[in-house]
Amino acid sequence: MQVDYPTLAKTIAALTKGETDAVALMATLACEIHHADDRFDWTGFYRVTEPGLLKIGPYQGGHGCLVIPFDRGVCGAAARTGETQLVPDVDAFPGHIACASSTRSELVIPVRDGSGAVIAVLDIDSDRPDAFTREDARQLEAILQATFAAQPVSAETWPSRITPGS
Ligand code: SME
Repeated sequence: MQVDYPTLAKTIAALTKGETDAVALMATLACEIHHADDRFDWTGFYRVTEPGLLKIGPYQGGHGCLVIPFDRGVCGAAARTGETQLVPDVDAFPGHIACASSTRSELVIPVRDGSGAVIAVLDIDSDRPDAFTREDARQLEAILQATFAAQPVSAETWPSRITPGS
């Protein structure tokens, strides 16, 4: 089964309409995205909980590492640079964190709130090599933008807006 992005975007928009709690939104997206495509073997969020640090958020799949510093792994690179990371071969990515040894490729997208601050990353891992395309990245970026940046999302349950030095 391959994801139908227009349907997925519509479903997510309907389910999350009016919701502003960041964890409720992340839990809903993790579930909907994960079950939309057979390529997605682990789908979840890592939240920026303090400067330079990601902590596990809502996810679907096997056990995920609890803490990822910004200078580690694919998730750290996405949070640090603010840029989507499309990794066709995790073994060729320096510092990749193997939470599951079966993971072969990854797509990690920064999640921004309405102010443009990176509050989390969406991490999708696949057991298939080279599983993700630029089109996957583009479509999922649009869903994240519509969900988290177009609404007054509240991430007040964690201090995501702390900036280094403050
Ligand atoms: N994909 C990660 C680690 C997190 S898990 O695989 C769930 C990374 O290297 O950033």
